[in-house]
Amino acid sequence: MADNGKPVIIFDTTLRDGEQSPGVSLTVSEKLEIARQLARLKVDVIEAGFPITSPGDFAAVQAIAAEVRGPVICALARAVRPDIERAWEAVAAAAKPRIHTFIATSPIHMKHKLRKSPGEVLKAAVAAVELARSFTPDVEFSAEDATRSDPEFLIEIFSAVIAAGATTINIPDTVGYTTPEEFYRLITYLRQKVAGADRVAFSVHCHNDLGLAVANSLAAVAAGADQIECTVNGIGERAGNASLEEVVMALRTRADQYGRPAGVHTPEICRASALVERLTGMPIQPNKAIVGANAFAHESGIHQDGVLKERTTYEIMRPEDVGLSAGRLVLGKHSGRHAFRERLAALGYNLSEAELDRAFARFKEVADRKKEIGERDLEAILQAELPAETSELVLESFQVTSGNRTVPMATVSVLLRGETRSEAATGNGPVHAVYQALNRAVGLSPELREYALKAVTAGGDALGEATVRLGWEGGIYTGRGLAPDVVEASARAYATALNKLLNARRKPGGKPAALAEGAR
Ligand code: KIV
Ligand code: ZN
Repeated sequence: MADNGKPVIIFDTTLRDGEQSPGVSLTVSEKLEIARQLARLKVDVIEAGFPITSPGDFAAVQAIAAEVRGPVICALARAVRPDIERAWEAVAAAAKPRIHTFIATSPIHMKHKLRKSPGEVLKAAVAAVELARSFTPDVEFSAEDATRSDPEFLIEIFSAVIAAGATTINIPDTVGYTTPEEFYRLITYLRQKVAGADRVAFSVHCHNDLGLAVANSLAAVAAGADQIECTVNGIGERAGNASLEEVVMALRTRADQYGRPAGVHTPEICRASALVERLTGMPIQPNKAIVGANAFAHESGIHQDGVLKERTTYEIMRPEDVGLSAGRLVLGKHSGRHAFRERLAALGYNLSEAELDRAFARFKEVADRKKEIGERDLEAILQAELPAETSELVLESFQVTSGNRTVPMATVSVLLRGETRSEAATGNGPVHAVYQALNRAVGLSPELREYALKAVTAGGDALGEATVRLGWEGGIYTGRGLAPDVVEASARAYATALNKLLNARRKPGGKPAALAEGAR
């Protein structure tokens, strides 16, 4: 084990590679919200986006660079001048800016995708790093598809980019092809042979196509890698990236093996995971390690008995280490605004007066129908209610009739740009009927790409959380809604998504923002 005793650098790419998950498209304010949580989590680097790809991505990176302090803020760029200039423009305001430039090095990518010879690729890589270095002293270079590249070519190109000024060299397993043993050997070999290896950080970036992303990342650390690139909940292209929470908790729980825990503030893990789940609309499987609903649940009598007698019989981590509280009661319907604000501050939310007004009003509505509001409920209320979109559409009221011998029917009343509209429609179920009525009210019929419903906590009065994803003119619009009543939660989610769609249509030029953000 190559052990220099320093913490492993955690490079979070949820907002860049994670956002490349099929169907995921985050707005600028959603990305900013995730970046703030990543800063609370104390990741070392936030890869905030790929600015050349769209105005939305550029705006998000720029906003994060301007506001978020603590982590390095990084922007991705291909190894070409316009990408690197745009990346710098986006990230320049950061206290600690990084440019991350990449080019593919495998024969298959060079021949079929780039149509460049290895010599041309090497030249482009060196020129890209030199240009990036003219802007910032923190430059990362990635050899895309490194695990299917010729190791001798990797040595040549990494040595050349280090001489040109790269400070981090990244070895991606772009297609999730390598295995822990093979990757260990590759990292060990590169560490020995690359000229200037001791002057730079070695990074790895593993995809999960064979379910090995975390194992490969850990094998790389054992071989001397300094940085792991990963995403919250493991989201990302195809089968995703190495999962941040799994990597971090493995390094911590098995510090005896790796000797280099990450500097991440682990009690923020669950909140980060829940936020990313809600904003991306990508649900976490119940048995997902660390953050799945069952990750700390003991079902069998023998296990329960063991844990009650001595926790460590069946638990290798403490739930509180990842920020799992028992969802204890924090507030009820008699709680006042002051207690509400205090409780939110304890959870790390410092809201503006206007945000507090909105959140408190919604809390009161929910508390009227749900006796006990736990931390998870509170967070869900905030995360569903706070998105700072301007309200084109406000759902005022709705009513449904449904049953097994009647055609489901809904009436809705909305405020559309300040004007009241009421519509009725039938559907194949109460939720469908509400959606049809809302479509009528706004005069649009977007495609319902996805609909998901789940309970936020256990119990008969648990809050229902609905997530919908609408497709319209190439854009994707996600909405979440929360209520003790599942039809209401569904209606709220749909109205939120419609609101985003209407906002995008109003932008100058009428071009849907999500279309631009999603275009890759
Ligand atoms: O998977 C990959 O190769 C990447 C690079 C841009 C680092 O995401
Ligand atoms: Zn990747």
